[in-house]
Amino acid sequence: MQTTRAAGESQAGLIIRESEPVNLESPFDQLDGYLTSNDLFYVRNHFEAPRLDVDSFELKIEGAIRHSFAISMAELRKLPAVTRTATLECAGNGRVFLSPPAEGVQWQLGAVSTAEWTGVSLTVLLERAGLLQDACEVVLEGADQGTPKTPPPKPSGEICYSRSIGLEKAKDTLIAYGMNGEDLTIDHGFPVRAVVLGHYGMASVKWLKAIRVVTEPFQGYWQTTDYAYWDEVEGSPVRRPLGVAALKSAIAQPRMRELVAAGESYRVFGAAWCGDLVVNRVEISTDDGATWQATTFLDPECPFCWRRWEFLWQVPQQRGTYILKSRAWDSEGNMQPEEHDRRFGSYVIHHTVGIEVIVQ
Ligand code: MTE
Repeated sequence: MQTTRAAGESQAGLIIRESEPVNLESPFDQLDGYLTSNDLFYVRNHFEAPRLDVDSFELKIEGAIRHSFAISMAELRKLPAVTRTATLECAGNGRVFLSPPAEGVQWQLGAVSTAEWTGVSLTVLLERAGLLQDACEVVLEGADQGTPKTPPPKPSGEICYSRSIGLEKAKDTLIAYGMNGEDLTIDHGFPVRAVVLGHYGMASVKWLKAIRVVTEPFQGYWQTTDYAYWDEVEGSPVRRPLGVAALKSAIAQPRMRELVAAGESYRVFGAAWCGDLVVNRVEISTDDGATWQATTFLDPECPFCWRRWEFLWQVPQQRGTYILKSRAWDSEGNMQPEEHDRRFGSYVIHHTVGIEVIVQ
């Protein structure tokens, strides 16, 4: 397994999708290592990143618990540390492929990256706090605040970024201060953030300032108005928060409209991932989905992590335009869909995407 690229080794930087607030896409076509180096890890910020003073910073644990407390970074680092590798994908990754076009940051393929996260399990903090019997969710609250850019309805005044997870997800949640062996950078949540394994990136609250245990399902803006979708219960629409990341594969190379030499061998490669299951098959089509062939994995199965794959394509002699597609399967036999599910609006974009290449 390859590790992080050495500093300075990256060929090109992040792609600017928005500068205020900063939203940067990882150059997915450069996918080479298993881990994304910190300087190429995508950045998704809704507001300006807060600059927090690590020496005076305290993370509060409060709400439906027996002992409320605040913990400094020095104290947090003394608790048993765990390191987990995890892929984070923004729920809006691939939005540019939606038709008709959707509002929002126009991500292509690269709002997805993988890192080794180091921190303390949320379970350790909750055990120390002692949950009250009626505790039902944990709200993770960030220190950044502002007015959401999305169209109304929106709350009056500034709000902070916060989201909740169910209590059962605490064991898969890290309160992380390290990323690929270094301190978090400001854009990735310094000094501390949540990393909710298997969920879309929006759950992994950065600049975490409070962990609040609540006794009723949290109805915050970032899980009712934004990052939410309409489900149906007995014929009635019900609004639900987005959560588990959907099964997806994507082609890193060839790039869209790349020129490929007729008659040569070409290494097609990419990655595949899914929320809480593992990907166990990726297939490739070089004829717009008419026929499919198996690819070879470069990485072992690892829950919550992507697997890179490759396929040696014998490029036809016949010149012209070819459409390449990849599709993934998970450990329960589900296949990546061909169409976007419109219930999810401009999120959960995990359908197969055709990469057009020109053979000449
Ligand atoms: N946490 C806070 N406090 N503020 C934010 O804007 N963005 C969320 C999440 N956590 C966000 C946040 C979203 S939408 C994503 S996809 C991930 O952070 C991105 O994490 P990254 O910037 O480290 O890649």
